[in-house]
Amino acid sequence: MRILVTGGAGFIGSHVAEAYLAAGHEVHILDNLSTGHGRNIPQGATLHVADMLSEEARSLFAALRPEVVNHHAAQASVKVSTADAVRDLAQNGGGTARICELAVEFGVRKLIYASTGGALYGDPERLPVDESHPIRPLSNYGNSKRVGELYIDLFARERGLNATVLRYANAYGPRQDPNGEAGVIAIFTGLMLEGRPVTIDGDGEQMKDYVYVGDIARANLAALAAGDGLAINIGTGQGTPVNAIAAALQSATGSAAAAVHGPPRAGDVRNIWLDCALAGRELNWRPEVGLSEGIARTIEWARTA
Ligand SMILES: NC(=O)c1ccc[n+]([C@@H]2O[C@H](COP(=O)([O-])OP(=O)(O)OC[C@H]3O[C@@H](n4cnc5c(N)ncnc54)[C@H](O)[C@@H]3O)[C@@H](O)[C@H]2O)c1
Repeated sequence: MRILVTGGAGFIGSHVAEAYLAAGHEVHILDNLSTGHGRNIPQGATLHVADMLSEEARSLFAALRPEVVNHHAAQASVKVSTADAVRDLAQNGGGTARICELAVEFGVRKLIYASTGGALYGDPERLPVDESHPIRPLSNYGNSKRVGELYIDLFARERGLNATVLRYANAYGPRQDPNGEAGVIAIFTGLMLEGRPVTIDGDGEQMKDYVYVGDIARANLAALAAGDGLAINIGTGQGTPVNAIAAALQSATGSAAAAVHGPPRAGDVRNIWLDCALAGRELNWRPEVGLSEGIARTIEWARTA
């Protein structure tokens, strides 16, 4: 089928595009290259450089008439969202509203939306966090991604949009930008391979759910044919402290530089990991790549990138 992946020049979107191509689909990518790169575009995909909020995006929908739209384009940094709430909302709330409008106008059969499980729920009342947990984001980013979900929900109820929302835990893996502002594994890997010390936010005992990007791509593949009308967590169900991540990376890279501790990060949830039973039932999806294997693959990629 013909699929349009927004944000497909970015970290996660490029892996999703690759998985769709490998399954035999025709893949088009809409990306303004603000944080994405042409080098991330998998062979066989067609890149259309445009902003999702521009008139060109509408012309692209009109010309392509994609059967499925997979929406990954976003402002994906919690730090940027804290510095500029309005820009963050325009991209994540406004951008998703725009994609919903275009999807309805051009008869898209299905929309798949990359939401966040890590930044949506806020400080958990219970762990692991399932999809029925109250939604109380701690950051502008978590809030703007929620606004995107609310537009999808509204368009589904009122305009007949068919969608699946995937709420990812902390993604990691090849092509994550080590100069970016999210993604502790990418940042630490980049620094350690250069023999430089890493700075751990706070005491480093905060625990997050780290999910390998290839597993996320498989969830997006499954969502082509399942999960209609649902919001589904995509994670591993396990929390790992940042200190343990730093130790694993230090031993895998052979870095001798000691880690230092800095202040805790504003807007960061202390402990969160996701209950992914719904993904098992509805998408027949389970994570397959464990942390040590995923870290090894990430380092192997970073050594040659
Ligand atoms: N990285 C994570 O751990 C994580 C976790 C949960 C959810 N997500 C979500 O997954 C998606 C992808 O995140 P990522 O980490 O790959 O980030 P990324 O920055 O690598 O990818 C985002 C892509 O969107 C493009 N983009 C941004 N604004 C655009 C616009 N207005 N028009 C067209 N293209 C635009 C960027 O150029 C980039 O290629 C985002 O929606 C993010 O909110 C990421």
